[in-house]
Amino acid sequence: MVEYRQLGNSGLRVSTLTLGTMGFGGTGFATNVGKIDVAGARRQIEIARDSGVNLFDTADVYSAGVSEEILGEALGGSRDDVFVATKVRLPMGDGPNDAGLSRFHIIRSAEASLRRLKTDHIDLYQVHEWDGLTPLEETLSALDDLVHSGKVRYIGASNFAAWHLMKSLWTADRHGLTPFVSTQVNYSVQTRDIEYEIVPTAVDQGLGILVWSPLAGGLLSGKYRRGVDAPAGSRHVEGWGEPPVYDVDKLYDIVEELFAVADNHGATPAQVALAYLLAKPAVTSLVIGARTEEQLQSNLAAADLQLEPSEFERLDTVSAFNLPYPFWHHLNAADRLSRADLTLLARYIKK
Ligand SMILES: NC(=O)c1ccc[n+]([C@@H]2O[C@H](COP(=O)([O-])OP(=O)(O)OC[C@H]3O[C@@H](n4cnc5c(N)ncnc54)[C@H](OP(=O)(O)O)[C@@H]3O)[C@@H](O)[C@H]2O)c1
Repeated sequence: MVEYRQLGNSGLRVSTLTLGTMGFGGTGFATNVGKIDVAGARRQIEIARDSGVNLFDTADVYSAGVSEEILGEALGGSRDDVFVATKVRLPMGDGPNDAGLSRFHIIRSAEASLRRLKTDHIDLYQVHEWDGLTPLEETLSALDDLVHSGKVRYIGASNFAAWHLMKSLWTADRHGLTPFVSTQVNYSVQTRDIEYEIVPTAVDQGLGILVWSPLAGGLLSGKYRRGVDAPAGSRHVEGWGEPPVYDVDKLYDIVEELFAVADNHGATPAQVALAYLLAKPAVTSLVIGARTEEQLQSNLAAADLQLEPSEFERLDTVSAFNLPYPFWHHLNAADRLSRADLTLLARYIKK
């Protein structure tokens, strides 16, 4: 069964696994992700809820609104027993104001998401990407109005750089506006980029981290292995390119280590990849996606898997990265590092 963790500095306790719904519908860019209809969504929701999952993540842009419609329809009368997270920012049309984080687009999009989700409130409304052209005061005051009108409970960011997060938190504080409680980011044992700046920011500022594609879209599921042809129909075989793989050899080394650790527990590589992330600082919940009910059932069992410190270390080592500037220079002044700094630097400091 999943555990519950506080979502950043908010009072909300969310499950450590969240059901992602990018495969509900399955049109547009989500064509290769899944084709889950309302009946399939009902079964996925039931399986997830049986394991204690209380958070469901969608976005207006997933299958051009169809994912939200399917989630709303499939939740039906159980809507108020769970939390629904959705997103705004990416294009919902071809017009000049059909994308972005303007007051106009945010308010119109929230109303449209509420209609598609068949609900009167969104529990977590996330801005899907940064908008460098709209003043943050405009974006945050529009989100604040949605919170005060009762249509939105909490707000979060997604895919922001650390400085975007800091500027947002500072702007909200300066104007007395509702702050972000979370950021949704790509993170996996294959892609640990957020450990440089985003994790320390989250620890320092009390932001919750929701992880998207914790299995790197399936690359860490065990079906992609050195010298093995992944099954036809799998997302990455069909041309899905996220997250990018810059070093295929390193990916396969990581996969072999996942298999080795999995063998110790009679577990699957996917379960180990998820358990690894759940032990990382600031991580609140992993947003998992599943094409099939079997994948979902199996991945949910990761909530019960505890890795030994030596196993965690093996995975950290095989996926280690070089410290860029200024972080390697911080090692020269390691006498005054905070808990946030140490999330990145602790392993590099000579004992
Ligand atoms: N904020 C953002 O920008 C953003 C971006 C992307 C996603 N998201 C959110 O994150 C959610 C999860 O993303 P994701 O689907 O990429 O997550 P993921 O968990 O990394 O990948 C899921 C995919 O991996 C494969 N898989 C999973 N378990 C498996 C198993 N046990 N055995 C074999 N294959 C397995 C399946 O694909 P195949 O069967 O095709 O191999 C499945 O669809 C989305 O639904 C969405 O809510 C957010």
